[in-house]
Amino acid sequence: MAIEDGAGVVVTGGGSGIGRAIARRLADGVPVARGVRGDGFPPARIVVNDIDPAAAALVADEIGGYPVSGDAGTEDGVRDIIAAAREHLGEIDIYCSNAGIGAGTGPDTPEDVWQRAWEVNALAHVRASRELLPAWLDRGRGTFVVTASAAGLLTMLGSAPYSVTKHAAEAYAEWLAATYGHRGLTVHCLCPQGVRTQMLADSGRAGQVVLMANAIEPEQVADALWEAMRDGRFLVLPHPEVRDYYVLRATDTGKWLRGMSRLQQRIEDEEAQ
Ligand SMILES: NC(=O)c1ccc[n+]([C@@H]2O[C@H](COP(=O)([O-])OP(=O)(O)OC[C@H]3O[C@@H](n4cnc5c(N)ncnc54)[C@H](O)[C@@H]3O)[C@@H](O)[C@H]2O)c1
Repeated sequence: MAIEDGAGVVVTGGGSGIGRAIARRLADGVPVARGVRGDGFPPARIVVNDIDPAAAALVADEIGGYPVSGDAGTEDGVRDIIAAAREHLGEIDIYCSNAGIGAGTGPDTPEDVWQRAWEVNALAHVRASRELLPAWLDRGRGTFVVTASAAGLLTMLGSAPYSVTKHAAEAYAEWLAATYGHRGLTVHCLCPQGVRTQMLADSGRAGQVVLMANAIEPEQVADALWEAMRDGRFLVLPHPEVRDYYVLRATDTGKWLRGMSRLQQRIEDEEAQ
């Protein structure tokens, strides 16, 4: 089926938060990158994945999609999600690798928590692209969306595993775009700061201090993705100020680190009160 007849979309972690907002937004229609788009944006056909079957079913029911429960954090899980999605959609046009977890604190974080963060937040993207790329490169078209985080461009105080695995996610998204862009692969990398979801609610003192004041709604993240798809833009920054922090980090890393250190001090002071 051609993308003009309704793109086939998969959203992992689509049962709540940002994934649910993306599924809802794309269900109304998917913009095709500048230059190859027809007139309208026909409704997409959406596979809603979640590790929580009830959450996936609820969202799929709401948007007329297909629920596929499964764990995006294991090799077999990703393979099964994609196989089930292909049964519903035929070839997948857009894969939103969105499922992610907040995990751990510092170096004392147990090994198994580091490992799970690595599998869900980073390896999930590698494994999905392994399944998808052969068909996409064959036909010269495919769109891969990685939900990384501003933590993948900057850092997330309070969680080393989250910061490191989100940097890996962003790095992998860049690598994919650089390696396969000329063969028809489109990659978008979503890097929001605080978004009002369960994950932010669970993010502890550092999350509250650093992220809460400027937190946005998941629907704003989905809108930002939609616009980036329309414009064919890799980096999706729903919080525009992240661009300035990213520039500072690249051009005056010492100054940026001193600012982050002051923020860490503030978190500790608030914790001590
Ligand atoms: N909320 C924020 O402030 C924020 C900021 C930047 C990036 N992100 C990223 O956005 C993505 C979505 O997070 P959210 O804020 O919507 O969180 P959320 O907790 O509201 O939703 C995450 C969903 O993913 C599902 N999920 C978790 N692990 C899964 C797995 N292994 N396989 C399949 N589904 C799984 C959960 O059941 C849940 O429905 C994550 O990758 C997160 O790191 C969130």
